[in-house]
Amino acid sequence: MKKYSAAVVGLGSIGQGLDYDLDVNRKDICLTHASSYYQHYGFQLVAGVDTSDSFRAKFKSKFQAPAFLTVSELEKIKPDVISICVPSHLHKSIFDEVIDLGPKAIVCEKPISDSLLEADEMVKKAQSKQCLLIVNFIRRFEKGNLELKKKFDRNEFGKIRKVSVFYSKGVLNNGSHFINLLSFFFGEPVYCRVIQKGNVLGNLDIEPDFLLKFQNGVDAYFIAGTETDFSVKEIVFLTEKGIINYQQGGMKIEYFPVDISSIFKDYKIKSLESQPVTTDFNRYQWYTVDALYNHLEHGVDCNSDGLSALHTQLVVDKIFSQYNQMEGMK
Ligand SMILES: NC(=O)c1ccc[n+]([C@@H]2O[C@H](COP(=O)([O-])OP(=O)(O)OC[C@H]3O[C@@H](n4cnc5c(N)ncnc54)[C@H](O)[C@@H]3O)[C@@H](O)[C@H]2O)c1
Repeated sequence: MKKYSAAVVGLGSIGQGLDYDLDVNRKDICLTHASSYYQHYGFQLVAGVDTSDSFRAKFKSKFQAPAFLTVSELEKIKPDVISICVPSHLHKSIFDEVIDLGPKAIVCEKPISDSLLEADEMVKKAQSKQCLLIVNFIRRFEKGNLELKKKFDRNEFGKIRKVSVFYSKGVLNNGSHFINLLSFFFGEPVYCRVIQKGNVLGNLDIEPDFLLKFQNGVDAYFIAGTETDFSVKEIVFLTEKGIINYQQGGMKIEYFPVDISSIFKDYKIKSLESQPVTTDFNRYQWYTVDALYNHLEHGVDCNSDGLSALHTQLVVDKIFSQYNQMEGMK
């Protein structure tokens, strides 16, 4: 079986940190790029890159592979696949270095860039160099989310009446995950309106409440929570045939169908009994690289590429510009 060589640039939280303390052979959890290449049968993790001495030392010690200070040192290895896991404002400059190494694919963390212009340049450059650009909107790959999409596509819940999304930690940082996910389910948004301004975060992100209307006619209300209370990533889908509760960012997805009340005659209510959608969220990163493998080996389309990420970025940009025009209003 062919194994593709893979390198990770940026060995912080999503690069290697989130599951660093777990045994290297543990397969039930896969939260980082390094673990996913290490665990997946189709890849060989050949190198890491980070400006931090201690993170490079940690990488070498766990994965028994070299770790470099600069991207240029990957020249001698020329990995087939390179993940970009540096902070978002550095995505573009690292991307420019990485793509010159001629990889078959780049897996870039989301958001693709914190600048729309840069994001557009990255997508165009990847196209011109015939390099696949995957943007790591993890929910477009994970098993439970794909199962939920199939159910929507098969119209199992009847008409989707309304959607509410509760998010925190900024629209660019976390809200974008759910803009991207609902676009995957329902088509790109065709209308966007900021309803209420909310917080400005220290890292130049914002937390407004806003309404998006999607291509299939569904309205989704995004309501910002308060990250310092707790991190909130919940979706409620109100449908003709019941309610879907999407909890803890997709860790648990339950469908509560309509039931007939046993007390009030002919009264239709939401059942208290749920039907689970089986998820495997603790291994989300494995599903990203599995999709990458299926693309490289079998030509299967990837659900999250540069273009779909760019569409999400456009919506985020629109929200920022409406937000800024609402100066003074809370
Ligand atoms: N897809 C997701 O669900 C998800 C989750 C977390 C983070 N992210 C994204 O991943 C990216 C990284 O986030 P993080 O939380 O891992 O950040 P982090 O700060 O924990 O890690 C970033 C790493 O990049 C390294 N770095 C900085 N400049 C570098 C350079 N020039 N060359 C090589 N290494 C360099 C830093 O030393 C650090 O180790 C961000 O874009 C973030 O939005 C995505």
